[in-house]
Amino acid sequence: MRHLIDPMDLSVEEIDHLIELAGKIIDHPEKYREVCRYKKLATLFFEPSTRTRLSFEAAMMELGGNVLGFSSADSSSAAKGESVADTARAVACYADIIAMRHPKEGAPLVASQYVDIPIINAGDGGHNHPTQTLTDLLTIKQEKGRLDHLTIGFCGDLKFGRTVHSLIKALSRYEGINYILISPEELQIPEYLKKEVFEKKGITYQEVERMEEVMPELDIIYMTRVQRERFFNEADYIRLKDSYILDMDKLKNAKEDLAILHPLPRVNEISVKVDDDPRACYFKQVNYGKYIRMALIMTMLGVKADED
Ligand code: CP
Repeated sequence: MRHLIDPMDLSVEEIDHLIELAGKIIDHPEKYREVCRYKKLATLFFEPSTRTRLSFEAAMMELGGNVLGFSSADSSSAAKGESVADTARAVACYADIIAMRHPKEGAPLVASQYVDIPIINAGDGGHNHPTQTLTDLLTIKQEKGRLDHLTIGFCGDLKFGRTVHSLIKALSRYEGINYILISPEELQIPEYLKKEVFEKKGITYQEVERMEEVMPELDIIYMTRVQRERFFNEADYIRLKDSYILDMDKLKNAKEDLAILHPLPRVNEISVKVDDDPRACYFKQVNYGKYIRMALIMTMLGVKADED
């Protein structure tokens, strides 16, 4: 039994296996409809979510399992002052696997130290979001056919965006990734990532403020929203929230096979007119998220379809 707290908890081989298994499930979902019969997934969401929680639940249901849980701290005994450790210990009496989202960095790691069932970090503060990273990697693999030798522009709130932090870490193990970090100075990626990922591995990267100047180079643009909930004051959020809005005009000089990704939710950073452009992959990305979570649940519970 293992937990998934940080994207680096998975080796490249394990990620390859999950992507391959997700592909098999996409091709033949009927073969996987009963593999988690009598198994229970608990979704403990102390912070809002649409995609992550519901895709975990849909994933478990499509594997024939059951789901239980809560979607806000207010509807759990956390509202009475219960610790994350005690909540996890209690839920481990009812479930076989837990997916936990929490506003505090490290909360799923703490929970994992108190239970003997697998814990999956479904997003902890501004830190990590490993299952979004798996979703992003599956999307890139499906849309671009490879996970190496790509120029990727990360655009928006690179300071607080946990999906960006996790994806940068995961991609640092693939050859030939050219990183272009597009953000206002105040929203650049944290220093610890620059030191621990880029500098430690000798990876070069480019930091720019305008997306227009790098658009023609990009194979992928990974848009992100400015994370209002992590700002210390509203005035800064209001000043920075519309720093980047990707619209059809900005795509004029982009490659024809650019893939536009966004972990969603979107606020204002991609014009809805872009949604109909064949390069827009963000709703496909939502769909891939369910399949990679099916593969992850199966792998962490040690279940297989007969054919696998
Ligand atoms: N991408 C993502 O984490 O979306 P939710 O916040 O809706 O789960």
